[in-house]
Amino acid sequence: MKELSRIATAVQASTTMAIDAMFKQMKADGIDVIGFGAGEPDFDTPDEIKAAGIAAIEQNFTRYTPAAGTVELRQAVCDRMKADCGLDYKPSQVVVSSGAKHVVYLALRALVNPGDEVILPAPYWVSYIELIRMVGGVPVVITTTEAEHFKLTPEKLSAAITPKTKALLLNNPSNPTGMMYSREELAAIAEVCVKNEVYVISDEIYYGLVYDGAAFTSFASLSPEVKELTILVNGVSKSYAMTGWRIGYGCANDQIAKVMANYVSHSTGSPVAVSQKAAAAALSGPQEKIEVMRRAFEERRNYIVERMNAIPGVSCIKPEGAFYVLMNLEQLIGRTIHGVKITDDDVFADAFLRFGLVAVVPGSGFGAPNFTRWSYATSMENIKEGLDRLEKFLQG
Ligand SMILES: Cc1ncc(COP(=O)(O)O)c(C=O)c1O
Repeated sequence: MKELSRIATAVQASTTMAIDAMFKQMKADGIDVIGFGAGEPDFDTPDEIKAAGIAAIEQNFTRYTPAAGTVELRQAVCDRMKADCGLDYKPSQVVVSSGAKHVVYLALRALVNPGDEVILPAPYWVSYIELIRMVGGVPVVITTTEAEHFKLTPEKLSAAITPKTKALLLNNPSNPTGMMYSREELAAIAEVCVKNEVYVISDEIYYGLVYDGAAFTSFASLSPEVKELTILVNGVSKSYAMTGWRIGYGCANDQIAKVMANYVSHSTGSPVAVSQKAAAAALSGPQEKIEVMRRAFEERRNYIVERMNAIPGVSCIKPEGAFYVLMNLEQLIGRTIHGVKITDDDVFADAFLRFGLVAVVPGSGFGAPNFTRWSYATSMENIKEGLDRLEKFLQG
């Protein structure tokens, strides 16, 4: 048999999905496990959004749409971005696609030639590193520390830039760290990008899930110059509990948006018509339900952070957005728990699942060794039980 594509065969399975699959299998086998691996809200899509999808089917809105999305939805994106982030985009500068993940892929496709370097701060969302490689790019990972609140500094960014640097891939608020950059921190990063003509793919999918009354700043809103260099990635999956509808969007300057639209027209074609109607309803309709979900996440975060920091041997810093917390388990390395010598986060996660019956995601896949990611997109009841189990497991 002839060799398969080297690029495609080098793609690694997603560690977040692997843990989720294992957890689901154990559950299906009747084992009482609790999962903290989910990357999606545990809420249902709000009724009025579902109703818009149902109406679309009933009205036979079931055919191809323009490849970059309906004008109605692209206009709704523009209006929402204006209202929430102060951004001015035209519908022609918006590309709707099948989830924000695919928009990140399209953005990288639009920018990257084989061998171009893409700067990626770690901890990073698992898919980023694979997506960069899938377009022939070279990921240049910059490690950030817990002491730095996992944030990229302008100094570290400057030091990583070479003549081959094409783009910076930024996620704000971040999966897996939950950290959010302030306007000042973003401005300092933007200054380096403008000076060196580095494009920025700014994935802001969690922008609606921000806590403690903090203000979210969209990268492109920093200045017209910064906006020119930015591809904004966003979508309805997380803020509106719509992960299965598969609608994400990208906003960029005319030239980049056109390249992305052309590319998508020959790859996936138009996004799901019915989902586009539902997404337009989500973006243009009342936003109160979003606030109810946001508040629930904030309450869970407060609980999880307090409990985790009260358990000897583990700790975490307080996330400012998204629905993840990174638990530091450095103090457990070298300890033997339930007969298992904890040598790294993978061993810990495996032992915790087998003996503690709790599924968390090892940090290594996110470029965060000796951490595990806990998603608090699960009920308060589960969170309490999960932390009780952690306490008990660590006594073993
Ligand atoms: C940072 C980040 N970007 C994008 C996505 C994917 O969003 P979508 O479901 O819209 O493709 C996720 C999902 O986990 C994510 O965490």
